[in-house]
Amino acid sequence: MKFSGNTRPIAAGALCAALLCGTAALSFADQDVPPEQDAAAGETPDPRLLAQGKRLYILCQACHATEADPGDKIGPHLAGIVNRPVASAEGSVYSDALRAEDFVWSEENLDLWLRRPAEMVPGTSMSFAGLPGEELRRALIAYLNTL
Ligand code: HEC
Repeated sequence: MKFSGNTRPIAAGALCAALLCGTAALSFADQDVPPEQDAAAGETPDPRLLAQGKRLYILCQACHATEADPGDKIGPHLAGIVNRPVASAEGSVYSDALRAEDFVWSEENLDLWLRRPAEMVPGTSMSFAGLPGEELRRALIAYLNTL
């Protein structure tokens, strides 16, 4: 996967059109980030990418908490999801299909999942069609890495 700091307004527009969301919510022009923090340096994630991923999380938050508290959300919490074993959040109800899997949620697996959950794990109960934009998935996964 190519790691560049560039954003893709066209992909954002297409996503917004597909989701009928306001363009403001997923705006890629992040005015909050000072220019000196712009370049992704070494292991520090690009703050713009993170900010973009955090905004994209609106697609997930109805069903997923970001804290390790089962709460009353329909999906498992996503605290520490990167490198967490599949279907392992205590107190969550999983489909038989996901429970039968045996892998950890590496960034690569999250990318596959978020592209098209039902293709990666047929029979999953996650009602989410998928996020076609590779750059958008990269941003979202950068944010998931902070949970
Ligand atoms: C409509 C509700 C819903 C939405 C929206 C949704 N999910 Fe889910 N998600 C679920 C459910 C339910 C499961 C459990 C699936 C299963 O057991 O087959 C799940 C499972 C997962 C898992 C596996 C967790 C584990 O413990 O193995 C991940 C990762 C995940 N979702 C991430 C996301 C992300 C990121 C988004 C936003 C792009 C998202 N989901 C959007 C309902 C949702």
